[in-house]
Amino acid sequence: MPVADRVGVVRKELSELAQAVPTAHDLMQRMVKLLHDRMLKYNWVGFYMLEPGAQPPVLVLGSFEGAMTPHTRIPLNQGICGAAASSGQTVVVDDVSKDPRYLACSLETKSEIVVPVFVHGKVVGELDIDSHFPAAFTQENQEVVQYCAILVGKKLEASGQ
Ligand code: SME
Repeated sequence: MPVADRVGVVRKELSELAQAVPTAHDLMQRMVKLLHDRMLKYNWVGFYMLEPGAQPPVLVLGSFEGAMTPHTRIPLNQGICGAAASSGQTVVVDDVSKDPRYLACSLETKSEIVVPVFVHGKVVGELDIDSHFPAAFTQENQEVVQYCAILVGKKLEASGQ
């Protein structure tokens, strides 16, 4: 199947998943598995969520698929993860070896995307994806990952968060 068609199918599966699962936690768990299984260049897929009430704020590793990472707690002034959460912007890094902010998770990682998750306009966490391929996160990929973050934000809002 051409990549563009696969992305379309995965997008449909993601929205069906969001309807089918009862909680945001279930959605995140199933979503990381779906993305890891179906998107062939997504070699590590995980959520980091802001720890409620933590001062200074810290991102804590949540549901993930892929090898265990040494970075289970990331302050907002560290890493690509910290940059995305503190700016509220999607961060795409085509070559992690050239980005001084990058915190290494696997020696095989070549590119990374981090997309913030918002609840009522505030960042509550983010979806982080690493690829063993350089520049894996094209515009089309960015849109899919941003769609995932929106689905999770809406589910969290629906649960009254
Ligand atoms: N590379 C991230 C750290 C998390 S691991 O990739 C899973 C960063 O630079 O913030």
